[in-house]
Amino acid sequence: MSSVIEAIKMRRSIRKFRPEEIPDEIIRDLLEAARLAPSGSNSQPWRFKVVKDRETKRRLAEAAFNQRHVAEAPVVIVCCADLQGYLDGVISGAQDLLQLKAMEKHIFEFIDYRTNKLKKMDIEQLGPEIGFNVAIAVEHIVLRAVELGLGTCWVRLADGKKIKEIFNWGKNISFVTLLLLGYPAEAPEARKRLSLDKILLD
Ligand SMILES: Cc1cc2nc3c(=O)[nH]c(=O)nc-3n(C[C@H](O)[C@H](O)[C@H](O)COP(=O)(O)O)c2cc1C
Repeated sequence: MSSVIEAIKMRRSIRKFRPEEIPDEIIRDLLEAARLAPSGSNSQPWRFKVVKDRETKRRLAEAAFNQRHVAEAPVVIVCCADLQGYLDGVISGAQDLLQLKAMEKHIFEFIDYRTNKLKKMDIEQLGPEIGFNVAIAVEHIVLRAVELGLGTCWVRLADGKKIKEIFNWGKNISFVTLLLLGYPAEAPEARKRLSLDKILLD
């Protein structure tokens, strides 16, 4: 495969995997693609937990309303947003005062000015706001995986609270999605997409 558009066209959600393990250097390569993603104010709020052990995958599947393919995937990457990390990134990324001023209303209502830390009560509200930055990095992984002959499936239909309990993560971490990863054991047809004229607004 030689181009981004080929990867985009070939990609499918894969829910059946061959049992082979994925070498750690391949996983690192995928995470490197995530690391290079763009983000608002270069805040880089994405955080990843790579899960291979059977019991943890079983618990993740349970938290994902018993979607069986979660337990069956050789690797599950739990993709999260670090909320404090986001704000730290925004503050250091917004070097000129003008930019900070423009974002003030939007972001700074979540910050305790004395400590530059998140106000605890607002953390849950901030999660979705930051999640879409993480989604960009996740899709970088997805497309690089296609290029390496791997299959992936986003699994967002899951109870984020339960997932956080599995790993004992604090309030700062917000669940975004699971990403299943493995060598494909199926080759699904392309799913239907809306035509171009349907996605263009007047
Ligand atoms: C944000 C998001 C959430 C998704 N959640 C799930 C999920 O919980 N379970 C699942 O099996 N597939 C999930 N999918 C996969 C979609 O069902 C799939 O992308 C869509 O049907 C189009 O098929 P394709 O990816 O093969 O082109 C999700 C995809 C995205 C982008």
